[in-house]
Amino acid sequence: MSALMKLVILVPCCFFLVALIKFLYNYLWTPLRIQHMMNSQGIKGPPYRFIHGNNNQVTRMKVEASTKPMSLTRHDIFPRVQPHVHSWLNTYGKNYLSWNGVQAELVISEPELVREVLKNSKKAFLKPKPTLLGSKLLGKGLVMVEGENWVKQRKLANFAFHGQSLKQNMIPEVVASVETMLERWKGQEEKEMEVYQEFRLLTAEVISRTAFGSSYLEGEKIFTMLDKLSILVIRDIFKTRIPFISKLWKTADLVESEQLQKGIQDCVMEIIMKREDKDLVDECKTFYLAGQGNVNSLLGWTVLLLSIHGDWQEKARREVFEMFGNQNPHPEGIAKLKTMSMIMNETLRLYGPSNGLYRRVGREVQLEKLVLPANIHLVALNIALHNDPQLWGDDVHLFKPERFAQGIAKATNHNAAAFFPFGLGTRSCVGMTFATTEAKIALSMILQRYTMTLSPAYVHKPVLLITYKPQHGIQVIFEALHKDA
Ligand code: HEM
Ligand SMILES: *[C@@H]1O[C@H](CO)[C@@H](O)[C@H](O)[C@H]1NC(C)=O
Repeated sequence: MSALMKLVILVPCCFFLVALIKFLYNYLWTPLRIQHMMNSQGIKGPPYRFIHGNNNQVTRMKVEASTKPMSLTRHDIFPRVQPHVHSWLNTYGKNYLSWNGVQAELVISEPELVREVLKNSKKAFLKPKPTLLGSKLLGKGLVMVEGENWVKQRKLANFAFHGQSLKQNMIPEVVASVETMLERWKGQEEKEMEVYQEFRLLTAEVISRTAFGSSYLEGEKIFTMLDKLSILVIRDIFKTRIPFISKLWKTADLVESEQLQKGIQDCVMEIIMKREDKDLVDECKTFYLAGQGNVNSLLGWTVLLLSIHGDWQEKARREVFEMFGNQNPHPEGIAKLKTMSMIMNETLRLYGPSNGLYRRVGREVQLEKLVLPANIHLVALNIALHNDPQLWGDDVHLFKPERFAQGIAKATNHNAAAFFPFGLGTRSCVGMTFATTEAKIALSMILQRYTMTLSPAYVHKPVLLITYKPQHGIQVIFEALHKDA
């Protein structure tokens, strides 16, 4: 054989061998090493399976759980919406290791560890790198960025959401948006109304007016595209990526997501051009994505809970009339609505939209009781903490806003990391005051006009679709308080 022939055979062989070794290193050696390292520190979990990790088990358990009926007296949604997590917490303990494909995920629900991670000040924990599709959704918006970019953007956002600008710029826009919604409701009294969709329109209108400075109609095209894109991104998360092949051609989802991204960019630019501030595209998208669905969820579940708990609905209404009479809500009063705040906190505890805070370990880090290897992901599971009878008592699954009557510390038995619907530490929600203010205004204005009861048509099926959503909406019957109103 000539030297050239040998080369022609040998070179591809070498390439193949190197690729194979790399493949086995990433998909076998590294996961097993991480698993061993965590096991030896007492952290157990479902074993790693080649390439797929635990994804097949997750899919199977989710399908099974989604067929089980749910009652409306015990609000125990955790085993239904995250059956795999619920079951593994019971089997392996409050902190366990699982595998999203080849990615190690350390799920944590022990308050001390959650606090240690979320309040870590040494930048040991970063936001996970977005998937290819995910980066199209959030771009370089505040939720995703790190370091100096984050500091800069967070400062701007803090300013935009601070007391004075909230009062002057946002509250009037929210009131106007709620009025638009209530206008739509006129003549619908005593008929069944699907409020989840109503609150989708309301929350999108609020973001339109406050972030985009336009009306819902102008924003509608953008929102529809963003909603479609988020569905693609979520679908992508539990897909196992087959190595090499995913690099060779674009999936249909990827092609569609690129078109959506371009469409969104163009539409947002068009609106923003009018305002002459072109750096805002990602931030406007971020505020829509971070804000709209979460407030939608909070409003929907609060109205559901008030519809079945007439006593709390009456207490909330009494407080609203004492504070505002028949007038529109004003900033001083909104801040003082205590009963409403208790009700909203109890709703956030039982149906909070966040399904865990994700972090990535940068370099190997030494914690008080654990050493964590680089690049594993952590999931601080608020749903687990919010449903833990050891923290909240045996009535943990009941709707009892009175547990917040003496404040958070008392409700959680002085456990600082037991309740964090808006996150904890430096990366906690920048829109918290905005969100609670928006919800309080909407609820106050509804309570001033209507009593509400749940329609017999309602079926209780919360599903995890970014937030926890009612699968078939929430059907409520409104009755006007004053027939001439
Ligand atoms: C009930 C409503 C809301 C809930 C429950 C909620 C929850 C959260 C949570 C848990 C985080 C922390 C995520 C993490 O640590 O990984 C967060 C961050 C964030 N939220 Fe909210 N949110 C709500 C409404 C809003 C609204 C209305 C906006 C803006 C208009 C907003 C904007 C943001 C932003 C920009 C971040 C990232 C902050 C940063 O990384 O510095 N949120 N939110
Ligand atoms: C509700 O929770 C928030 C934090 O999420 C807290 O600031 C507020 O004081 C709570 N309200 C009540 C009445 O417990």
